[in-house]
Amino acid sequence: MSAIVIVGMQWGDEGKGKVCHFLSNWTDWVVRYQGGNNAGHTVVFDGKKYVLHLIPSGILYPDKKCIIGNGVVIDPVALVEETKFLRDREIEVAGRLFISSNSHLIFPYHQYKEGFREEVKTRIGTTRKGIGPAYEDKYGRVGIRMADYLEDDTFVELLDRNLREKKSFIERYKKPEELKEIILAKREEILPEIKEYVRETSLMLDKELAAGKNIIFEGAQGAMLDCDFGTYPFVTSSNPVSGGACPGSGVAPVCIDKVIGVTKAYTTRVGLGPFPTEIEGDLAHTLREKGGEYGATTGRPRRLGWLDIVQLKLAVRINGARKLALTKIDVLDDVKEIKICTGYSHNGQAVEDFPFSRKVLKEVKPVYETLEGWMAPTGGITDFDKLPENTRKFIRRIEELTSSKIVLVSMGKSKDDTIYIEKEGF
Ligand code: IMP
Repeated sequence: MSAIVIVGMQWGDEGKGKVCHFLSNWTDWVVRYQGGNNAGHTVVFDGKKYVLHLIPSGILYPDKKCIIGNGVVIDPVALVEETKFLRDREIEVAGRLFISSNSHLIFPYHQYKEGFREEVKTRIGTTRKGIGPAYEDKYGRVGIRMADYLEDDTFVELLDRNLREKKSFIERYKKPEELKEIILAKREEILPEIKEYVRETSLMLDKELAAGKNIIFEGAQGAMLDCDFGTYPFVTSSNPVSGGACPGSGVAPVCIDKVIGVTKAYTTRVGLGPFPTEIEGDLAHTLREKGGEYGATTGRPRRLGWLDIVQLKLAVRINGARKLALTKIDVLDDVKEIKICTGYSHNGQAVEDFPFSRKVLKEVKPVYETLEGWMAPTGGITDFDKLPENTRKFIRRIEELTSSKIVLVSMGKSKDDTIYIEKEGF
């Protein structure tokens, strides 16, 4: 029995989907514990590309089972669209996908609220999926859970209460009575399918662990989008960090064996907010094109930056991620000089720890170390010792600076473009 948490170490889009999919070989269950369909996990399986937003990537393996835990917020319409997307590709989800009865739901009024905020109030650059407002309702104790959605009377009562409470901004978009009809009609259409998936999943996980089964917790977003430790307020509304796996699934901390942090060989982020090592110009353009750096959910171009060790050290610490998966090194194959940010300076003073002051974070200047690039293709190499010498030096330097061990290196979308240095197994 083993439970591993796979988490993003940057601002999301690190390639967690591929790493989870690669390690799924050894697992029985794959569990999502936070976020919602703001995530976009890209996986290439049998030469086909899949982008999953809500359902764990383990679903692509016919013998794996998946859970959407209580910590996830679910847009029921997006959920059935995703099950249809999979079924159309001959991937059956029935009997393999289970959804926590305690998970909270996203309705159009959450998206209205978010749209209103993004357009008229504070802009965060969100995915506009209604994630933040759904978590607000959860913690404000007016949310609607899966268990409530299944019960006719309970659901109508709670929906009415929410429509009344949120009337003033719903009216900017639709008549509340009209919205109620839309939500009820959609529910009638999709409820028979959804009912099949809903379970008390924390109980299921407890039994599976007791039976010696292996579990992967698949984090969404990344450490720097964590609501508590990220670049607030430009964060998501959940806790993507490894600790979030426990309240988000109902599994106790003592059951978690390992954490693997996924980081790119450089840094990207979508949305707004501070980004100390951001680069622009030709190099950013080249890396963006080579890395296909467009958000998997929104299609927005990603902002590009050099690898930031100050930020990475924070992510290693708060996640307990002493094992790292380093992704997308092939994107740096043609870069002559590769920079690593080893520290920041602020008003001439060295800053070693990631600052949480909005002002300081905006003002810090990165201090770079420059490494010679390897100027050779890395795709298809499956043995660490066969990597170009400068690639190995780059990897060793990251390990040294972060006091972590790189256990997996990825240089392409396919499972074949992966070096598994330390066979983790389970
Ligand atoms: P929200 O999660 O839609 O509320 O968006 C909040 C911030 O998190 C925005 O900057 C989004 O671009 C970012 N974000 C949310 N999900 C992801 C993801 O899966 N990858 C990268 N960024 C994300």
